[in-house]
Order: sequence, then structure tokens, then C-alpha cells
Amino acid sequence: MASVIVPGATGGIGSAVAGTLISGGYHVTAVGRDRDGLDRLRALGAEIIIADLARAAALREAVPSPDRLDALIHCAGVSEVAAIGDARPAVWAETLAVNVTGAAELTRLMLPALRRACGHVVFVNASPGMRAVPRWSAFVGSKAALRELADSLREEEEPSGVRVTTVYPAGTATERLRRVRAAFGRDYDPARCIQPATLAAMILWLLSAPPDSYVSELSVLPSPRAQHRRPVSQSTDRPARLPTEIGSSTAHTGYQMRRALDRQGDTIPELLSGPIGPDAWPESAAHSPGPRKGRYRD
Ligand SMILES: NC(=O)c1ccc[n+]([C@@H]2O[C@H](COP(=O)([O-])OP(=O)(O)OC[C@H]3O[C@@H](n4cnc5c(N)ncnc54)[C@H](OP(=O)(O)O)[C@@H]3O)[C@@H](O)[C@H]2O)c1
Repeated sequence: MASVIVPGATGGIGSAVAGTLISGGYHVTAVGRDRDGLDRLRALGAEIIIADLARAAALREAVPSPDRLDALIHCAGVSEVAAIGDARPAVWAETLAVNVTGAAELTRLMLPALRRACGHVVFVNASPGMRAVPRWSAFVGSKAALRELADSLREEEEPSGVRVTTVYPAGTATERLRRVRAAFGRDYDPARCIQPATLAAMILWLLSAPPDSYVSELSVLPSPRAQHRRPVSQSTDRPARLPTEIGSSTAHTGYQMRRALDRQGDTIPELLSGPIGPDAWPESAAHSPGPRKGRYRD
């Protein structure tokens, strides 16, 4: 059984990723601090580890490295909203420690196991991570550093066969996004955001790439239809479609994604009832200019 470690597995995105991967047949080790959240994942079949990513020096002991590791999916993160004039050193220290140093150290510790399995490291970054966002400098600065970390890792590990993917999601319906939007004085309507289960299905799909290729960067936006639609359960729109077919991996990835999504609750199967094919790629993912260009979207 393929093995995967998910730091941040107790969060909105991480718990969807962990649940989807368990449903997809992976052996999942969930890492976080929230005992109740970890226990819920254990009930689904995950192994659990309590660890504080802000304490990088203690990670070696807290998260023992397995012999082989097929994937490490970094889903942990903090995102304090504070102007530079108000952000005390503790804000910068925690943000950089969790979002960058903890991720770097956990990756370093897992590299021997990842190399043995020709594994995959996925970093959940953020679409604002490459441009200035007033009152969010610690967060966007940490995500810029995370991107550089991922890009360097990709080049360094190319000879070892370890693949590295950065995912850049825009606003995803989690409690964290609700808090961030409130801090910016913005509305939060979860129905108009990316659903964590959708992002999780895309990550499952990334892991199922055939050996000849993989996705190095994936930019994910809520579809224009979601931005202007009523909640999915009330909608009469043509259902949204998801990326499931690329080259020779059509049947495999399509099947895995369907299986994972079918287990995600009542709204997601509806999203899948539309036609599925190569044209199902959202424009932003297939032809993404990369997150350095274009308008900021959270
Ligand atoms: N939601 C969005 O709109 C959105 C969009 C783009 C990118 N992202 C990124 O996606 C990631 C997850 O976001 P989310 O919305 O799922 O946030 P979330 O629900 O707040 O989850 C954050 C996760 O990070 C973990 N974490 C925080 N501090 C930690 C620490 N010191 N040690 C160990 N774990 C720690 C939390 O675990 P414990 O609670 O167990 O400590 C939790 O599992 C973040 O990196 C975020 O920047 C989110």
C-alpha cells in the first residue's frame, strides 16, 4: 500500500486530503496538534502523530521517518493578517516557522524515505503567495519562500527521482478562510469558494500521474460559475467538470478521482455528473501563466 504523510491533516484542506487519500487506498499518517481532529482521522484509518511544526528541532523525534515514503503533502499553515506596522516579531516567527522552516525540516527528514520510493512532495502554497498583499506580508512572504523552497527541491532531487509539485489554491472553503476574509472586512460565502474535497481530489490525481510525467505547478481557482452561482445543491446549472484525463492515464486517474469524490459527501457527486474529458481542465490549470502574473485572487 502506498504511504503518505500529511502535515496539517487536522485543517480544512488537510483533513479533506487525508480523508480522500484514505478512501483512495493510501496508508495515511496524519500530523497535527489537534488531538480531536487527529482522532477523527484515526477512526477513518489514519495513523496519527502529534507534532508542532513550529518546533523544528523536535521534529526528528516527533515524526519518525519510515523506510519508504511515497508522498509528503504539506497542508499546514498559519495566515495571520497584520500590517507591517502592527506585526510583532512573534507573528513573523510563527508564520515563517510553521509555513517554511517546519516544512523544510520535515522534508529534509523524509528525503531518504522519499528517494527510496521515488516519491512525491506536494506543497499547498497559496495564489497570493507571489505578490504583495497589504496587511498580509508575513503570510505572503512565507509563501514566496515556500515556492523557492519547492523550486530548489525540484532541481536538487531531479537525479533521485523525487517529484515536487506546488499547488496554488485560491479561496478554499475552510474556517481559516472565513477568519481571513473577516479580518480583511470581506464577505465569506463557502459556496463560492473551492471546496476542500475538490482540491483533495486534484491532489489525489496529482499523485496518480503515470511515471513518464507529472505536474510541477497547479493553479486552482473557483470556477466563474461558482463565483456567480447559487449553492450547488440548489443549482440548475450544468454541473462543473474536473480534470480527470491526461494521455495514457485516463482510465486510472478518472477512476481514482471518481472513487474519491463519490465518498466526499452529498454535493461532490453532483459536480461529477457532467461530461469528463481533456477539455475538462480549467483554463487556469491547463494554460496557467504561473502565479507571478495576473490579478491577485485569494
Ligand atoms: N483556505 C484557503 O482559502 C487557502 C487558500 C490557499 C492556500 N491555503 C493554504 O492551505 C493550507 C491549509 O489551509 P486551511 O484553510 O486548511 O487552514 P486550517 O484549517 O487552519 O488548517 C491549518 C493546519 O495547519 C496546522 N498547523 C498550524 N500550526 C501548526 C503547528 N505549529 N504545528 C503543526 N501544525 C500546525 C493545523 O494543525 P493543528 O490545528 O492540529 O495544529 C491545521 O491542520 C495553509 O498553508 C494555507 O495557507 C488555504
